[in-house]
Amino acid sequence: MEICIISALCLCFLLVGDVVEVEASHHPYRNLQSLSGEQPYRTAYHFQPPKNWMNDPNGPMYYKGVYHLFYQFNPYGAVWGNISWAHSISYDLVDWVHLEPAINPSDPFDINGCWSGSTTFLPGEKPAILYTGDDIKNRQVQNLAVPKNVSDPLLIEWVKSPHNPLLTPIDDIDPQNFRDPTTAWQGPDRLWRVIVGSKINGSGMAILYRSRDFVEWIRSDNPLHSSTKTGMWECPDFYPVSANNTNGEEKFSKHVLKASFKNQDHCILGNYMPMTDKFEVDTDFLDEGLDLRYDYGNFYASKTFYDSGKKRRILWGWVIESDSESNDIEKGWSGLQSIPRSVVLSGTGRQLMQWPIKEIEKLRTNKVSFHEKEVKDGFIFEVPGITASQADVEVSFDLPNLDEAESLDPNWVDPQLLCSQKGASGRGRVGPFGLLVLASKDLTEQTAVFFRIFRRHDNYVVLMCSDQSRSSLREGLGKTIYGAFVHIDHREKKISLRSLIDHSIIESFGGDGRTCITARVYPKLAIHTESRLYVFNNGTLSVRISSLNAWSMKRAQIFPMQNRRKQQINYK
Ligand SMILES: *[C@@H]1O[C@H](CO)[C@@H](O)[C@H](O)[C@H]1NC(C)=O
Ligand SMILES: *[C@@H]1O[C@H](CO)[C@@H](O)[C@H](O)[C@H]1NC(C)=O
Ligand SMILES: *[C@@H]1O[C@H](CO)[C@@H](O)[C@H](O)[C@H]1NC(C)=O
Ligand SMILES: *[C@@H]1O[C@H](CO)[C@@H](O)[C@H](O)[C@H]1NC(C)=O
Ligand SMILES: *[C@@H]1O[C@H](CO)[C@@H](O)[C@H](O)[C@H]1NC(C)=O
Repeated sequence: MEICIISALCLCFLLVGDVVEVEASHHPYRNLQSLSGEQPYRTAYHFQPPKNWMNDPNGPMYYKGVYHLFYQFNPYGAVWGNISWAHSISYDLVDWVHLEPAINPSDPFDINGCWSGSTTFLPGEKPAILYTGDDIKNRQVQNLAVPKNVSDPLLIEWVKSPHNPLLTPIDDIDPQNFRDPTTAWQGPDRLWRVIVGSKINGSGMAILYRSRDFVEWIRSDNPLHSSTKTGMWECPDFYPVSANNTNGEEKFSKHVLKASFKNQDHCILGNYMPMTDKFEVDTDFLDEGLDLRYDYGNFYASKTFYDSGKKRRILWGWVIESDSESNDIEKGWSGLQSIPRSVVLSGTGRQLMQWPIKEIEKLRTNKVSFHEKEVKDGFIFEVPGITASQADVEVSFDLPNLDEAESLDPNWVDPQLLCSQKGASGRGRVGPFGLLVLASKDLTEQTAVFFRIFRRHDNYVVLMCSDQSRSSLREGLGKTIYGAFVHIDHREKKISLRSLIDHSIIESFGGDGRTCITARVYPKLAIHTESRLYVFNNGTLSVRISSLNAWSMKRAQIFPMQNRRKQQINYK
């Protein structure tokens, strides 16, 4: 056994049975970590490469005790281009070591870019990557890569198949709209299935292919699903999900089909019949924007994987900058990954619930709590004693008598518009109440994450908003106000909110993860120790905080492996 000294400069990884020592140094990139007064928007516990452009998460997996994340990466700059598959590894999805890119554009079938794709475990637990290549003719084709050495838990080297490209855009397939293969699955007939995102004759769709050997693929007569209302489907994802019942009942087991379009990740739930590959959807993609989305804010091109170690489904999503490209170039990087989220089906079987993975809680420190505190009309108070620019806050509100809630015009159907027009700065009856995040002391900068409850017909409508309109004194930023409804059982008379705050990102989970909204914000004043966190209520009816727990978050250890140390990874 090697002795590994754990220090700020060293990450030590222990594998069951073997010892893999990875020594990593942040030295070359010190100025890019948000340790000092510089780089106020660099995150401390979200996944980021040391520098440059990142977009979609690719091929996440758990293999021989190691989590792998690949991602779309430009090795040469902070803008999109020259896309390769960068590669990082982790033991807990919190601390990461960056390895060398696993797949680079080098062959006629991917020379213009190695675009998104997924990992599948072939028999014998052998991982295989299917990815899109932008080929020498600028056509989108699907390629295969496999590890050079499957005994290496770090899977450092990948080999492209001599059979590439496996899938090409023939017949009615548009060569510019054919990408992002999913994880494949095997049917009862032992044939592999995979879907690829496309748009044909004006409809977004998931083209279905089948294969016996994972090399030769035959297109199915029918797509798995299609829609006239969506445009091109990017990054489709298709997987089973069940309710998080402790008694193991899978009463509401369903399949999720996700497609990325119009800047958000839209989902439909349904029943999949593996014999016939029929997917009967509960509610299809809709015109009005009322369909299910993983996140109603800034969250795109996501991908899930099944974590066989902890028996859970985990979701990663790309969170793009909403600052200008010239500022991205100046700061030297662009793009974040969300905190990995577990995904389960809600008890009603009609929606998904997401929650930050438990492991992230290891970064919590300096806990501050309140209990049974009344927040009266127009009241605002600070949550003191935490680093509000790098924090995790969970709050649960007891609701007042909802009989007195304002009634909502039945014509108000667009929650995002409602949030813009009935924002935090307006007064209401039950709400707006919630958090003011990344706020300056004088409140000239603040991002309000809040609820407001209305009566409609015989029922109640809970609106959740993330209002970036006052998030920064800086000009030239995207400051969209996001909004969505939260489908809670109002008879419980309470609602919870959790926000993960990390310098330039706020990930908020309403109603125990029924509704999620992620925002990027770039405050001018409310940075580092100048940032504050408040609770507010601008409704005339009091709400009660049954409990509030807030923590400062420690920095995750996310470092590149030093090139010169690479040969010193020891296996015993
Ligand atoms: C892509 O790489 C080439 C060669 O390294 C470089 O000249 C070019 O600027 C890069 N493009 C982008 C968008 O990074
Ligand atoms: C493959 O990886 C294993 C485990 O890390 C190692 O022992 C072996 O030497 C590697 N084989 C080759 C050919 O590199
Ligand atoms: C698209 O339209 C063409 C011409 O009508 C037809 O041959 C083809 O089957 C259609 N494709 C799909 C997937 O609907
Ligand atoms: C699922 O259930 C487990 C055990 O009860 C719990 O720890 C976990 O937080 C639950 N996950 C979600 C997403 O509700
Ligand atoms: C509450 O409402 C008042 C009056 O409209 C407004 O000045 C204040 O900014 C609001 N509070 C918040 C947190 O938006």
